[in-house]
Amino acid sequence: EKGGYDHFMLKEMVEQPKAMMETLMGRCCESGVTFAGLKLNTEMMKNINRIQIVACGTAYHAGMVGKYYFEKFARISVETEAASEYRYKDPIVDKNTLLIVISQSGETADTLAAIRLAKERGAWVLAVTNVVGSSIAREADDVIYTNAGPEIAVASTKAYVTQVGCMMMLASFLGELNGKMEKAEGSRICHGLMMTPGLIEKALETQAVIKAFADKNHKIYDLFYMGRGVDLYTSMEGSLKLKEISYIHSEAYAAGELKHGPIALIEDGTIVVAVCTQENVFEKMLSNIKEVKARGAHVLAIVQEGHQDIATEVDEVWVIPEMDDDITAIPTIVYLQLLAYYLAVARGCDVDKPKNLAKSVTVE
Ligand code: M6R
Repeated sequence: EKGGYDHFMLKEMVEQPKAMMETLMGRCCESGVTFAGLKLNTEMMKNINRIQIVACGTAYHAGMVGKYYFEKFARISVETEAASEYRYKDPIVDKNTLLIVISQSGETADTLAAIRLAKERGAWVLAVTNVVGSSIAREADDVIYTNAGPEIAVASTKAYVTQVGCMMMLASFLGELNGKMEKAEGSRICHGLMMTPGLIEKALETQAVIKAFADKNHKIYDLFYMGRGVDLYTSMEGSLKLKEISYIHSEAYAAGELKHGPIALIEDGTIVVAVCTQENVFEKMLSNIKEVKARGAHVLAIVQEGHQDIATEVDEVWVIPEMDDDITAIPTIVYLQLLAYYLAVARGCDVDKPKNLAKSVTVE
């Protein structure tokens, strides 16, 4: 059933180009985004004055990317919160709220509880989920399926990239609905999204390089990720993946936050993964890299083609193809998933059955 792969996680990472294609199919084309069957429309959006995104774990990280692009494309301010926090804090939610929940399994207890609470107070609930007919799909008012296909490995991979794809489509869809986004912008996003299956394919082709890096460095006891803008969320997700399956301690920081404390932990040889895919903050990332280098860090930078010359500043560079800065969250995470995977394998971990973790958290 693993289709010849050593682990479900590897099989599912390899399936990501296809998963992404399924997500985009029939929804994303050069003229913009459509969601067949979605009840949420322009009239209803006029009454919405608050958007909240609620989820757990990896799905929460997809929600952070969602917030970033809802704000960027649709100019709507959004709160993203972990379901376990949302449900116990008497959230501000009423009939003018749109609650978007994200869940691969559609069965996560805290996320389900958040839906029930928001519905009781009159909110409109839109679920982004992978499992047709799941509890979350049934209880929500509207559903967008990620269409990633069954995900078995505890570490979520193809579900994540498709959740991010759905978030970007939704952001662009809402931007058009509320008139805050030009048609041309919508086409640009869709065009970019349609490139992602091929870009993921390219990421998967670099496995040998990633494995070699992992084989050389698997004895580390901690690892830092840093990024700015959307690269921060990619970093957070990469860090979670690493913790889950390799048991290596790791942290992900907004690069500009490092000097407000965490830089104290950087010492000779500490590996820092600097995710630098965003042109508007590239120079800022470069100064943060210099700061950690000055403390002895071993820096691995991930940059788009055209920025290879960063090699003079860092210890290792992974060059990803040139692409629209607004879609880098999708291909870039694949490099970090593979890094977590190969580090875990090099350490002899049971990747598909990490200790203390279950695929679906149906109890609190
Ligand atoms: O099924 P869900 O998307 O609701 O699950 C949420 C989290 O439990 C899940 O993403 C978890 O963090 C994964 N093991 C991450 O790889």
